Amino acid sequence: MAEIEQQLRALLAIPPNYRVLFLQGGASAQFGLLPLNLLRTGQCADYLDSGHWARKAIAEARRHAPVNIVASGAAEAFTALPPFERWQLAPDAGYCHITSNETGNGLQVHDFPDLAVPLVADMTSDFLTRPVPVERFGLIYASAQKNLGVAGLCLVIVRDDLLRAPPRGLPAAFSYAVQAEQDSRFNTPPTFALYVAGLMLRWIARRGGLAAMATAARERSRRLYRRIDTSEFYRCPQQPADRSTINVCFQLADARLLETFLARAADDGLLNLRGHGAIGGVRASLYNAMPLAGVERLTAFMNDFERLHG
Ligand SMILES: Cc1ncc(COP(=O)(O)O)c(C=O)c1O
Repeated sequence: MAEIEQQLRALLAIPPNYRVLFLQGGASAQFGLLPLNLLRTGQCADYLDSGHWARKAIAEARRHAPVNIVASGAAEAFTALPPFERWQLAPDAGYCHITSNETGNGLQVHDFPDLAVPLVADMTSDFLTRPVPVERFGLIYASAQKNLGVAGLCLVIVRDDLLRAPPRGLPAAFSYAVQAEQDSRFNTPPTFALYVAGLMLRWIARRGGLAAMATAARERSRRLYRRIDTSEFYRCPQQPADRSTINVCFQLADARLLETFLARAADDGLLNLRGHGAIGGVRASLYNAMPLAGVERLTAFMNDFERLHG
């Protein structure tokens, strides 16, 4: 674990006043653990309502604390992120939560605000796909299964002044302070997931680190968005400035062709293109491991499909 932590610290330039925790329960467990660990009596939590995963985080936080929605993209059907100028922060908020990449809606925060309260980010689906200014955050969390290996491990990077004694009723294994004090060894860590994470971190470093990951992500997504935007047959309703470089979500102008599109794509070896169950359409997930050749295969298939059905 010490070696993995060193690799992570080097890749993300994590300042010394941040602790790295290796936890279980996934990002979904953090949805509830954040208010329990971070809020003091009388505080509420600010949340940006940016799409499917933000809503999951909000619903769970609401079970434990009052929540203030700083802004919502619901009116635009989550095709754009509410600009920072529209956010209404609560004066008594203990933190402000964002979802840096909305995996199902295809939206990504490209500029992180500088806030007076600790900024907390669910980075599950774009963790290690680009450099991020860690010092601007109070806490970053991410499940490992997108860009850091296999499910079973959830990373929490937390500024040390936010660690405090576990509130009454919180099991010690879920206390950030207890896990920090015991170097994430309060319970047996998920050893296999950690082993794979170590391999992934080495792979990222060998390929040039996070700047190289970001360049590759931009190029993959740029090619796919260009293919979508240059056609009437496919459409991407997400506002270009907020589009994700990781999860490219799009639709067929004639929605009746969706099932045929997905079936023919699968025949061609292009799998897992169905959009998130709650959202529909097509989603191409372009995590770090996806080579540019994968996008080229997909755009070639899209050309053929449009020629046949357009
Ligand atoms: C942005 C985001 N947050 C949270 C989750 C949930 O992660 P887990 O299943 O590890 O709890 C996911 C899973 O896809 C996600 O994409």
